[in-house]
Amino acid sequence: MPQTPSGTHRRRRLSRPVPLALAGALLATAAVGLPHLSSEASAATTLRGYADGRGVKIGAAVGDGPLTSDSSYTTVLDREFNSVTAENAMKWDALEPSRNSYNWAAADRLVNHAVAHNQGVRGHTLVWYAQLPSWLKNGNFSASELNTLLKKHIDTTVGRYKGRIYAWDVVNEAFNEDGSMRSSLWQDKLGTGYIANALRWAHAADPAAKLYINDYNIEADNAKSDALYNLAKQLLAQGVPLHGIGFQSHFEVGKVPASMKANLKRFSDLGLEVSVTELDIRIPLPASSAELAQQSTDYKTASENCLGVPRCAGVTLWGVTDKYSWVPGTFSGYGAALPYNEGYAAKPAYTGLSNGLNPNA
Ligand code: G3I
Repeated sequence: MPQTPSGTHRRRRLSRPVPLALAGALLATAAVGLPHLSSEASAATTLRGYADGRGVKIGAAVGDGPLTSDSSYTTVLDREFNSVTAENAMKWDALEPSRNSYNWAAADRLVNHAVAHNQGVRGHTLVWYAQLPSWLKNGNFSASELNTLLKKHIDTTVGRYKGRIYAWDVVNEAFNEDGSMRSSLWQDKLGTGYIANALRWAHAADPAAKLYINDYNIEADNAKSDALYNLAKQLLAQGVPLHGIGFQSHFEVGKVPASMKANLKRFSDLGLEVSVTELDIRIPLPASSAELAQQSTDYKTASENCLGVPRCAGVTLWGVTDKYSWVPGTFSGYGAALPYNEGYAAKPAYTGLSNGLNPNA
């Protein structure tokens, strides 16, 4: 159970009868192993309360399934997070499964939910090598046709949500581990220039949105982050509208890179925003209490590595609860990667993340 920080937010005894609605809300939160705090106290000492207090985002990737079917999921999501990312609903295969036939329902559901709960939305993702619809992937289009299709996709998608998405992962996972450009439909047919074009088209479609390049294994100072750093410098020198770098931060417990803060700082020193965009910290199962304690430390360290750097826009987790995490299906034998367990009880990781967000911790 997360601890309220001592000396900062003590529980306040309610001096007046508890309104029925509030009593119901408190009982509902109690049903999913959540902190028993007054509404005022809980707002101030939630992840969202601390993030709001310092003007940053604490976000979560949201699955359409739990968003529409699991009230415990939305109770935690809306109390603890002031930003959401579509885990899959805004990817090309979800939005345009057949050419010129769009499916906006799930993406609209998330954006409407966020607006109703005063949450920001991160758009994910416009140009990626994965989750492309088969008509596109197997269409054998010419470079000219592919440019036209990519521009149309960006114009249509970014244009639909203009003014309602504060940041877009425009380009996702463009690099290989050695710093070379990853082979993809885009790189192979259009060359590296697709990146600048995508950023320019997205900026034209929504000039207010912050435009990011997002990747994994770039959290440390290494060949991959060096290559991205050099590309970012080149794009900025060309006046390309690049505003931020997304550091996905999919970590294994005990392995938050020691060079992470300095690495994020060098991107920030270019004048760019930095964001942790997909944080989760996987543990070999079954997770021991020592590993859960280390995970708590890692969540604090990873969040502070960003929040301690100028222009850190925030931290987004890749999910809310272990119940729906992508990790077990991808990393065999691993799981328990998020701050809430399958039963929505807060784990020590919640306290670590909370202390990372709370400047008085
Ligand atoms: O939509 C189909 C559904 O029709 C079908 O019945 C079902 C079973 O085959 O598959 C569904 O598609 C799945 C999709 O998620 C939507 O649920 C895919 O199989 C599955 O592979 C896909 O996994 C997603 C993965 O990206 C794909 O690479 C994960 O949920 C998602 O968490 C993960 O997120 C990525 C970020 O976008 C980029 N950074 C890495 C991160 C983790 O891989």
